[in-house]
Amino acid sequence: MTSQTFFPVSQDHCKDFGKISVPKRLLFGPGPSNAHPDVLKALALPPVGHLDPFYVGLMSEVQELLRYAWQTDNRLTLPMSGTGSAAMEATIANSVEPGDKVLVAVKGYFGHRLVDMAGRYKAEVQTIDKKWGEAFTLDEIEAGLIKFRPAILAMVHAETSTGVCQPMKGIGDLCKKYDCLLLLDTVTSLGGVELFIDEWGVDLAYSCSQKGLSCPPGLGPFTISPRAEAKLNSRNGKVPNWYLDVSLLNKYWGSDRVYHHTAPVNMNFAIREALRLLSEEGLENSWNRHLDNAQMLWEGLENLGIELVVDKPLRLPTLTTVLIPNGVDGKAFASHLLNNHAIEIGVGLGDLAGKVWRIGLMGYNSTSKNVDKILNIFETELPKF
Ligand SMILES: Cc1ncc(COP(=O)(O)O)c(C=O)c1O
Repeated sequence: MTSQTFFPVSQDHCKDFGKISVPKRLLFGPGPSNAHPDVLKALALPPVGHLDPFYVGLMSEVQELLRYAWQTDNRLTLPMSGTGSAAMEATIANSVEPGDKVLVAVKGYFGHRLVDMAGRYKAEVQTIDKKWGEAFTLDEIEAGLIKFRPAILAMVHAETSTGVCQPMKGIGDLCKKYDCLLLLDTVTSLGGVELFIDEWGVDLAYSCSQKGLSCPPGLGPFTISPRAEAKLNSRNGKVPNWYLDVSLLNKYWGSDRVYHHTAPVNMNFAIREALRLLSEEGLENSWNRHLDNAQMLWEGLENLGIELVVDKPLRLPTLTTVLIPNGVDGKAFASHLLNNHAIEIGVGLGDLAGKVWRIGLMGYNSTSKNVDKILNIFETELPKF
């Protein structure tokens, strides 16, 4: 019992709220995508303590499964408690020291986010830039490395704002040649697009749970190579972000199992199941499924007379950018699909705002049945706009 009789914030605002009920949606936007039903079941399991021996065993399984999904042997591979942006910030916070030269290859919205973050950690940030909808050639990357001689080259593999997949072969070798680390955003590629962290010479990478892994948002997979670990270990000062400092986090995720923060245990149940499903399907099968369904979507849209933004060889199988036809109100069409058909598609960001729709087919959602649904809805509804 409280002795206080007056509550400054009244209960009146809350007491009529009913039990939560969430509308069913088909999430064909840039993410989140629909979670796999088995992943949702795992999420709803009763929590255990974050130092419970069962949970500690599960943590190791999540790490092993993540190494498979990323094709890496990196010891320090773990899901950050937070969304993709937290893992993104972790790569920067742990690798950048004040005054370090960081070169960001910007070809869309998330490249700009990397620029912003690296600047906040007091890097000397330089950029090379490409028109939204295009990718960098090896020659352009090499010219940037020669010109700026950075300590870190940061770039986005799968640019969700444009639907471009950056060809990666050879970039890691260039980074070794010019003695810099390679930092890669794999938020919209992990699980859905060919990705070989070790073979490609990627030193720092991050991703998310809510796209190709068919899991809800809430975790940000993170990995760091021995080369980048060496840079971390020779820092002059502490990592300027306590929560994301992997040397501290490794005391929990590594053999010591010392408390760092209260892990979101249910999210880790969920990602463990999501990654298990991916390994059961097999990476190559998953990549092929995403590509086959994307190709079906591209062909179907083009048959309807709809133009795609990205040239075919650079198209991202997980996310397709579609030019809004002249005279059509893109936002109104997207709202119509959501409100009347329970289908979410994305609208444009940054340079492509108002010009494109973004259609995601990621993880559990990448099926031929879903492609048919999208094509049917475009065929029947678009002429009304
Ligand atoms: C390429 C890319 N990088 C980073 C992010 C940030 O991830 P999150 O929104 O999970 O924080 C996103 C989100 O969509 C993304 O598409």
